[in-house]
Amino acid sequence: MKIVGVGHYAPPRVVTNHDLESWLDTTDDWITTRTGMKRRHWASEEEATSDLATAAASAALVHAGMRAQEIDCFIVATVTPDYYFPATACLVASKLGVTDKPAFDIGIACSGFIYGLTVASGLIRSGVYQRVMLIGAETLSKILDKHDRSTAILFGDGAGAVILQRSAEDSFLASDLGADGSRPELLYAEGSGARRPLDHAALDAKVHLIHMQGRETFKLAVQRMVDATGSVLKKANLAKADVTFLVPHQANRRIIDAMARYLDLPDEKVVVNISEYGNTSAASIPMALSETVRAGLVKPEDLIVFVAFGGGLSWGAVAWRWTA
Ligand code: COA
Repeated sequence: MKIVGVGHYAPPRVVTNHDLESWLDTTDDWITTRTGMKRRHWASEEEATSDLATAAASAALVHAGMRAQEIDCFIVATVTPDYYFPATACLVASKLGVTDKPAFDIGIACSGFIYGLTVASGLIRSGVYQRVMLIGAETLSKILDKHDRSTAILFGDGAGAVILQRSAEDSFLASDLGADGSRPELLYAEGSGARRPLDHAALDAKVHLIHMQGRETFKLAVQRMVDATGSVLKKANLAKADVTFLVPHQANRRIIDAMARYLDLPDEKVVVNISEYGNTSAASIPMALSETVRAGLVKPEDLIVFVAFGGGLSWGAVAWRWTA
């Protein structure tokens, strides 16, 4: 299979580090040096994840020169669905005018796009579907405690989409996924699920919002993403020097820099857009890919490694050979 179209969308409202200074005990300097973030986009009250996802998907359709009716299956990777159910993918397909095709969500936090690529590869390469729309979309601002300076500064909203198509040339070289659910509390939104249904006490305790143990998560993120990248290259029988672009999940500039050092990758091979969007969870990789492809930087035969780490804990990498 190969990618035949990419698109991305971020809501117009921009929140800068200086904006955050106005209500949080933080500074532009702290946020910039500790995370690499300068701005993030936050959705308006009227906008939900399906709106962002639909905008990104529409852009990908235009890019591919395709109609939505030509897509066989819609997948949305998200942890901020419009509703607990139905799946956000159903809403997106319908907003695109498609009401008779399969659509489902993948809820594996920041690793969602990597898991999605792997699932889509199974569906397409086995011949079940010809074309899959895979979207990573989040409105994390809706589950942020805006008064918790350790998380409020980090997360943003956005969506990125790719259209995957069955093809003689195979871009999908290898995948390496993993998960460890023994410590969900390192990064989670505890409330409103079956374990802690929402009631007044839960709301007062803000358990429906994101909680993260940043320092511990940071260490695990570097280790797991370095290991996943090494494994996926080994599975694809490739070396670090073969990598044209690393497209990592954008959680923290220091995490990305640490990975690049371990992998001996120079700056020009590492795609970073964290200063503009912050951490957009499942959306970060397809947004970064879409920006890079649309800037004309990706050439046929380029080797791209996508790699992510996030809540679950979960992680994964995919090695991808770009085909025209
Ligand atoms: N502004 C100013 N000071 C802040 C702050 C903020 N926004 N947030 C935290 N601090 C303070 C802390 O209170 C602490 O103060 P203390 O030393 O007086 O206790 C100090 O800064 C250091 O806090 P710490 O949490 O150790 O900072 P850090 O260097 O680990 O950076 C994160 C915090 C969240 C940026 C970083 O840990 C991180 O990016 N974690 C991983 C994120 C991630 O990978 N997520 C998984 C994928 S989604």
